[in-house]
Amino acid sequence: MTTVTLALIILAVIIVQVAIVMLLGLYRRKRQFHDLDKGIHRAENIPQSNTTTRSSTEPLSSNHAWDGFKEFVVQRREIEDGNNSICSFYLVPTDNKPLATFRPGQFLSFKLQIEDPETHKSKSVVRCYSLSDAPRADHYRVSIKRIPAPANQADVPAGLSSSFFHDHVQEDSRLLVKAPSGHFHLMEEEPLPIVLVGGGIGITPMLSILNTVLESGIKREIWLYYGVRNGDELIMKQHLQTLASIHDNFHLHLCYSAPNENDVEGVDYQHNGQVTIPLLRATLKLMRYQFYVCGPKPMMESLVPGLEDWGVDSGDIYYESFGPATLIQHKKAAPATSTQSITVTFSRSGKSIPWDFSADSLLEFAEANDIEVESGCRAGSCGSCQTAVKAGEVDYNQAPDTDVEPEHCLLCISTPKCDLTLDA
Ligand SMILES: Cc1cc2nc3c(=O)[nH]c(=O)nc-3n(C[C@H](O)[C@H](O)[C@H](O)COP(=O)(O)OP(=O)(O)OC[C@H]3O[C@@H](n4cnc5c(N)ncnc54)[C@H](O)[C@@H]3O)c2cc1C
Ligand code: FES
Repeated sequence: MTTVTLALIILAVIIVQVAIVMLLGLYRRKRQFHDLDKGIHRAENIPQSNTTTRSSTEPLSSNHAWDGFKEFVVQRREIEDGNNSICSFYLVPTDNKPLATFRPGQFLSFKLQIEDPETHKSKSVVRCYSLSDAPRADHYRVSIKRIPAPANQADVPAGLSSSFFHDHVQEDSRLLVKAPSGHFHLMEEEPLPIVLVGGGIGITPMLSILNTVLESGIKREIWLYYGVRNGDELIMKQHLQTLASIHDNFHLHLCYSAPNENDVEGVDYQHNGQVTIPLLRATLKLMRYQFYVCGPKPMMESLVPGLEDWGVDSGDIYYESFGPATLIQHKKAAPATSTQSITVTFSRSGKSIPWDFSADSLLEFAEANDIEVESGCRAGSCGSCQTAVKAGEVDYNQAPDTDVEPEHCLLCISTPKCDLTLDA
């Protein structure tokens, strides 16, 4: 055998070995995807949440949603933070029927009868609160932050609904609740790694997503960036740290922007400062993720466009705003010429009024002109302001977070595109 033949044989053996290794790798990868699809990549320790839970294999029925508002009773309430300003409420239906399930990230709408601090008359108030835990068989949980009056405005009342929850909703209180809804929720269809960013009370939908993913047992990588001022504002620290210690696919990043003296960096929290794009870039590997963002207005306004500037596909960014039109995507169009005008007709009230281009929404415009319209969240979520459009079209400032019936619009997040006739 010549040297050349021997070299060729050795080369052939090497090529065959490399091919076998590659084929084995491909086969293992295929199996992993298959296992993920079937949900059989179970975590070794499936944690119990900090609430009484169903087992992760016990399914909730999805067909128990109800129309309109139904009565629930508060089973228990629990203050969650060191400032006594965030309280969780555990709710069970008074008709004892099975609960409708929900997609983690969705919210409940509440209809409350509250005394108006100015007129002292009782009025109906609708507000939305995200479900703050994974779906459970026997109860829902929401976690509500008390909203004070704006600083230096002593004449302005504190937040109506949140104050009512904190001051008047006790164990055994009865509440009217709409079935879970909302377009912001975990996308289970595509098992990409997940990055959750929750600022302040914006943590609530993230807790629901986090608990659901980790309890499912599917080994989906999940990061949580939770931004607060300091340890007094943080909720469910123990629960989060326990999850981080038992799940190697969960990466917890607590960010304190104004730590207290007793908050120790590296022990109580990981990062001194806010959740920012440079922080995400420094701590995340370069790969594709699903981003879920919910937080105060400045955080949303910097992070959501910042992610896109970083190169994240907008289809991989999901966000929820808790306030009215926090993230307005399209600026209101100013009239093209000074002669252009739009007339809004409220058919039931018998009024036709020139549109005020400085108004943020049709809801604001209707209220300013003493047209009686229903409203609630003022954020396109609860559906209270849904109104039939008899003629004309509207522009939306942001995508509705609830399903809108055909030929209807949500007044709180829309403006007229042309002359408009509304059934109001
Ligand atoms: C989809 C969704 C999910 C949400 N999830 C949560 C959640 O999980 N947890 C949570 O805590 N919140 C959540 N929210 C926010 C919540 O719905 C309420 O908006 C929040 O509780 C404030 O409502 P409020 O009735 O207490 O305050 P409001 O009465 O609506 O008042 C809001 C602010 O305006 C001030 N104000 C009142 N009157 C005036 C006036 N005349 N002039 C100037 N300022 C005034 C008040 O002092 C207060 O600071 C969510 C919102 C949405 C849309
Ligand atoms: S007021 Fe809630 S959707 Fe308009």
